Amino acid sequence: MEIVETVRKMQEIANLHRNEKKKIACVPTMGYLHEGHLSLIKIAREYANIVIVTLFVNPTQFGPNEDYAKYPRNKERDIQLAQKFGANYIFIPSVEEMYPDNYTTKVIVKKFTDKFEGIFRPGHFDGVTTIVTKLFNATKPHFAIFGQKDYQQALVVKQLVKELLFDLEIIVAPTIREPDGLAMSSRNVYLNEVERKIAPEIYKSLLTGAESVLNGERHREVINSIVKRRLNQFKEFKIDYVACADAKTLDEPEFFEPGQTIVILTAVYLGTTRLIDNIIVTVP
Ligand code: PAF
Repeated sequence: MEIVETVRKMQEIANLHRNEKKKIACVPTMGYLHEGHLSLIKIAREYANIVIVTLFVNPTQFGPNEDYAKYPRNKERDIQLAQKFGANYIFIPSVEEMYPDNYTTKVIVKKFTDKFEGIFRPGHFDGVTTIVTKLFNATKPHFAIFGQKDYQQALVVKQLVKELLFDLEIIVAPTIREPDGLAMSSRNVYLNEVERKIAPEIYKSLLTGAESVLNGERHREVINSIVKRRLNQFKEFKIDYVACADAKTLDEPEFFEPGQTIVILTAVYLGTTRLIDNIIVTVP
């Protein structure tokens, strides 16, 4: 596996492989790789001959009071893991390399960004869509793999690709969970022992919402309150939002229709750690 640090070099490599008619898959990450990322790399291998993992903690997608400075980083370990799981290249640019003129050009997607994460993290998606555009232009992939855990992000990136006519396909890979149900996330390392024990209740709460749908509940507010009630049993959680919406459009009708696929999304604080998760369920 080769380590690449400049955009110029990354583009040369991508051009070379494109000229050889090889298929390239990009796995964008902010590092501190875990099983979830590794599953994305594995899926990338199924689609492409060349897998490029990108490792960049993107400052522009963090708000001023968020965890950019303390976001967990371990470059050496990430390099080893990416290699072990079959990446051909790991692209590790510096902040200056990705934002040489500071931040004079932004890519803004309007659809899907005005709710849920968009409300609680203003500007977050502008940072994501800007860096993802730059990473696509650096790695020139045919495929890019994103995790379902960041459900809204995946929809936003798909919209970006569609509207800016990127010639690549977005693949959304299932969330990988710890045995107790907690969605894998680089931020899980922030949790202390007590918080880590409570954290799986996030997914369990989503499951109660999904079960209510499977048992015939179609009233959006009722589904939301079932999930909230379960979360609120634990005083340690501070809920940013619980929302259920049409899985494709993120619309929030009063009632869901039989056959409609819905996503139940949540973001909660556990101590100072903000965790997100979601579950998809189809109305019987
Ligand atoms: O999901 C992430 O880790 C980040 O938002 C991404 C897509 C790598 C962009 O910085």
